[in-house]
Amino acid sequence: MEEIGLFEAIYSQRQFARYKPDPVPKEAIDKIIDAATKAPSGGNMQPWHFIAITDPKIISQIGTLYRDLWLGAMGATPPPGESPAYSAARYLANHMPEVPAMILVCADHAIGSQPYTKGEPVERGRYASSLWLAIQNMFLAARALGLGTRITTTHIRAEEKVKEILGIPVHVETVCLTPLGYPRGRFGPTDRTPAAEVTSYNRYGQKG
Ligand SMILES: Cc1cc2nc3c(=O)[nH]c(=O)nc-3n(C[C@H](O)[C@H](O)[C@H](O)COP(=O)(O)O)c2cc1C
Repeated sequence: MEEIGLFEAIYSQRQFARYKPDPVPKEAIDKIIDAATKAPSGGNMQPWHFIAITDPKIISQIGTLYRDLWLGAMGATPPPGESPAYSAARYLANHMPEVPAMILVCADHAIGSQPYTKGEPVERGRYASSLWLAIQNMFLAARALGLGTRITTTHIRAEEKVKEILGIPVHVETVCLTPLGYPRGRFGPTDRTPAAEVTSYNRYGQKG
């Protein structure tokens, strides 16, 4: 596949709910995770761990858990006038058990200047700002390879169950679960507020 430019990737990368059933090549998954690991992190601690889920049985287990949690929280029937973002999220929830692949992004609390102490609860969110940068790298790399992704966090409501299914140790926090696959539908453009509306120069509210 011909590489696309960085700005084309940024402007066209969007969050997909619908995926083709085609499998995702392992080389693509490895490249996407490799791109994620190039992100900066606080103190260069690199507190991340990525679990690529490609086994359909495990995808179905995690996806079913996700679906039930999402529908349990948001309601099984769409409310009148549901927004496009929620309607897409609902579609994904209903189809999460069948996505071609998933990547679970985790924060390893055993890494760092104040590592996890055995028996203590992990301090959720301590590594979040480092992980989100890695996640965005992952999404842009996926876009460059023609693959779709979507940030989801709903699994956290049953994190212990997810950890049990995947054999994740106590000191590892699960942060974001993204489906991964060749998307149905086109990349971009995204519906965003123009930058000029959210930019000030030199003083809040002053336009450049
Ligand atoms: C922190 C965060 C949490 C999100 N959680 C979910 C989620 O649980 N399920 C889901 O389907 N989408 C989730 N999204 C995706 C957003 O709904 C999506 O980014 C937004 O609708 C923009 O989509 P677009 O890029 O296609 O325009 C999340 C996004 C962010 C940044």
